[in-house]
Amino acid sequence: MKKILVTGAVGQIGSELVEALRDKYGNENVVAAGHRTKPTEEMKEAGPFEFIDVLDKEEIESAVKKYNIDTIYHMGAILSATGEEKPQLAFRVNIIGLYNILEVGREQKLERIMVPSSIAAFGPDTPKENTPNETILRPTTMYGISKVSGELLGDYYFRRFGLDVRGVRYPGIISNKTLPGGGTTDYAVEIFYEAIRNKYYVCFLKEDSTLPMMYMPDAIRGLIELAEADINQLKHHSDFNLAAVSFSPGELVSEIQRIIPDFTCDYKPDFRQEIADSWPSSIDDSAAQDEWGWKPEFDLRRMTEDMIEKLRIKLR
Ligand SMILES: NC(=O)c1ccc[n+]([C@@H]2O[C@H](COP(=O)([O-])OP(=O)(O)OC[C@H]3O[C@@H](n4cnc5c(N)ncnc54)[C@H](O)[C@@H]3O)[C@@H](O)[C@H]2O)c1
Repeated sequence: MKKILVTGAVGQIGSELVEALRDKYGNENVVAAGHRTKPTEEMKEAGPFEFIDVLDKEEIESAVKKYNIDTIYHMGAILSATGEEKPQLAFRVNIIGLYNILEVGREQKLERIMVPSSIAAFGPDTPKENTPNETILRPTTMYGISKVSGELLGDYYFRRFGLDVRGVRYPGIISNKTLPGGGTTDYAVEIFYEAIRNKYYVCFLKEDSTLPMMYMPDAIRGLIELAEADINQLKHHSDFNLAAVSFSPGELVSEIQRIIPDFTCDYKPDFRQEIADSWPSSIDDSAAQDEWGWKPEFDLRRMTEDMIEKLRIKLR
């Protein structure tokens, strides 16, 4: 039976990943590890919970031993916008923290480590349209630098030590359960809350700033499918491009207005525009399709309808 540890479990992706993994492998077999933020009662009551600072290797190690862990989903990280405000912290958490996870994986002979990378691994020199899996990786943010390092480290640990490290380059993730934690695509979540509450939103990116995005159910399913893929079919390991849908704030506004016609949006780009401008607008994920059968289910319309339906219930 799998015994899984999820770091960053209280975050935007971690919180829903823990639920999905507990549904699949059993509540007791999935240990949720938060950092400082308290977990929901639901998360704590459903299964084991620990606090782990990934900068403390012993804390990781002792949880791995205590629960006999064989697989880590490492979701603990500092995201792009926060990373530009606190680059030293982003360096430590995203690079040293990952190094600690990989070292525990190597020493304890874990079966698998899952680590998300990001479209932030790309940079201004990368082709913007249909960005290939193999391309120029010269990011200009500390977050992006940490993600490229993570991909290279993951592949190094696989080649050098036989540790099975796998990861996807997530686009911006949209969800309705836990708020995002300081990324450049956070507008695409906030906008739904404000559309329902106030019918008005001020967007921190320009109206035509197109970025690759994905709805949370696809993001979770994709990561778990990659974890379960036959290793013999994989030519890539830590750096799979992953795509679902690309849209601009203006296109998202039009889609929301189909359901909430009196919703309006103004645009006041801030420092996050520069980060967005350094990223691709669409992604070629044919390697993920070919090597493990990746296929997204949600397009912009379906995602928008589902977000509004779920949030109307949540915000009632
Ligand atoms: N959300 C997105 O749009 C997106 C896009 C691309 C990639 N990703 C990647 O997916 C992963 C999860 O992201 P998320 O959106 O859930 O982020 P998040 O910010 O919502 O959650 C990250 C969690 O990491 C925790 N953390 C911070 N410092 C830590 C430390 N020292 N030790 C342990 N935990 C620590 C935080 O408390 C937080 O709960 C990250 O690797 C991120 O880079 C996310």
